[in-house]
Parts: sequence; C-alpha cells; structure tokens
Amino acid sequence: MSKLFAVIGDPIAHSMSPLMHNDLFSLYEIDARYEKIRVQPDRLKEKIVELKHMGISGFNVTLPHKSTIIPLLDELDPLAEAIGAVNTVVNVNGNFVGYNTDGVGYVRGLQEKVPHLLHKKVLMIGAGGAARAIYFSLAKEGVRKIDIANRTVNRASSLIADCPYSVQSKALTIQEGEDCADQYEIIIQTTSVGMSPHIAISPFSVKKIKEGTVVSDIIYNPLETKLLCEAKQYRANVQNGLPMFVYQGALAFEKWTGVFPDINRMKQIVLTKLTSGS
Ligand code: ATR
Repeated sequence: MSKLFAVIGDPIAHSMSPLMHNDLFSLYEIDARYEKIRVQPDRLKEKIVELKHMGISGFNVTLPHKSTIIPLLDELDPLAEAIGAVNTVVNVNGNFVGYNTDGVGYVRGLQEKVPHLLHKKVLMIGAGGAARAIYFSLAKEGVRKIDIANRTVNRASSLIADCPYSVQSKALTIQEGEDCADQYEIIIQTTSVGMSPHIAISPFSVKKIKEGTVVSDIIYNPLETKLLCEAKQYRANVQNGLPMFVYQGALAFEKWTGVFPDINRMKQIVLTKLTSGS
C-alpha cells in the first residue's frame, strides 16, 4: 500500500516540501506520496489523532505548530527537546516520534562551505526559534565560540543560558555585533528581516567584516538578501538559505526511508521553482 507523508502548517500553500519529497519518492521508486495539509492552531490536537488513525508514515511540521505539537507526540529526540521545537515526525509502530532537523540541516549546509567548524568564531544574528535550533545544533556539533547579537539582548542571553551543550558565548546588541564584526570567521543571519516581500532591509551592517568572512543567511526568498548583497561588496564568502532548507528535508527523508537523498537534485528542484516565478 502506498505510504502517506505530509507537511502540516498554517499557512501552507507556498510550501515547497511536497515538490521536493514527491520528486525523491519517484527517483528512488518508493511507493509514497507527500501532501500539504493546512492545520489551524485550534485543530492541531484533533488533526494529530486523525493522522495517527490514518496510519501516516511521517510528516513535517512548520509554523505555527513546531512547539505546540510537542505535548501531542509519543517520544521526543533529545536535541528537539532541548530546542523545544519539532519539524519532523516519524511514525514508529504507531508511535509518533519528534525530531528537529532544522538546526542539523543548517550545520550540514554550512559544512559545504566550512567543513571544519569546531574552532571557528561564529556570530549569530537573531535569537528566535530558528536561531535556537541553529545555535544548539552548532554547540552540539562542538563549535566552541558562538556570540549572539539580537535587537532584544535579553532574548540572546536566555538562549545562551538554555543551551545544554558547552559553548563560549556573549550576548550582544546589534550595534556591538556590528562594531566587532571583524573578530568573526562566520556570521549567521537567522531572523526573517530581508525576506520577501520586504527585501530592501537588512538587520545587520557588514561594513566591518574581514575579507573572506563566511556570511550565511537562512533566507532563501530572495536568494540574495540585502545583507548578502552588501556582504559580497565587502568580499565575503556568502551562502543563502537554500542549503538549510534542502538539508532539513534530506535529513527528514532519511529518517522516513533510510535513504540519504541527492542534495544537488533537491537544490535544483527548489531553485527552478523559486526562479520560475510561479
Ligand atoms: P523565528 O522562529 O522565525 O526565528 P521569532 O522567534 O519571532 O521567529 O524570532 C525572530 C527573530 O528576528 C528575533 O531575533 C527578533 O528579534 P527580537 O528578539 O528583538 O524580537 C528578530 N527580528 C524580527 N524583526 C526584527 C527587526 N525588525 N529588526 C531586528 N530584528 C528583528
């Protein structure tokens, strides 16, 4: 019988996950389909019961359900528990097990540019949900120094205090981060500032970065944010959010099927969609 997978969220119409996963199912000749399901916040609980009843094999979770789904699951991976957010659920013999592949997906994507991360000095901009997944995953990977600059410094301090993995960190204002930007080898932008349609703004000035600094933005729409465009002018080595999106999907696919899929093909599928304008 054909297996069912899905992504749940609200809104969900523009999710590119079905495109990516359905292509992989056909590539690897797996008898399965992947759907998008809009689930409003007040319907989450009943939807989870329904999905279990239907025997769904696995699903992705996107906004606004990444944290609220946790009490509705049967088991939780320790990293997802620490982050406090789940983006991937696997049905293991009728039990829903929650994982977070966002942060690890980000790290895998970053390693395409910087294979050896451990001794790099990292500055993260932002202290929201995405920042938390990335910070915890980098810390778990063993990265020693990660400072966080955020508009609300207290939020950066709380994030640092919550991390169960050992890492050396300071919480900074955006201005402080900008002033000492030359001290970092990697700068990671994790906020939604600069995302389409508000593409003319940047959350951080890169005027003081060193040439060759890796500047990575988790936004992939647009593919080049204002931040990345400016960083290129200062001879940064830039990376957009496409690798993170693709790797988080690839890691979910691997958990569901045991197959680690073709990353370049996934990137191409998403790029084609993003640049087709439809
Ligand atoms: P997400 O889950 O997508 O990370 P979030 O938890 O709402 O979303 O976090 C958003 C992040 O973007 C935060 O770091 C937020 O800064 P504050 O903690 O000060 O709110 C940051 N952010 C959002 N809008 C911003 C803006 N206009 N300027 C600077 N930072 C902004």
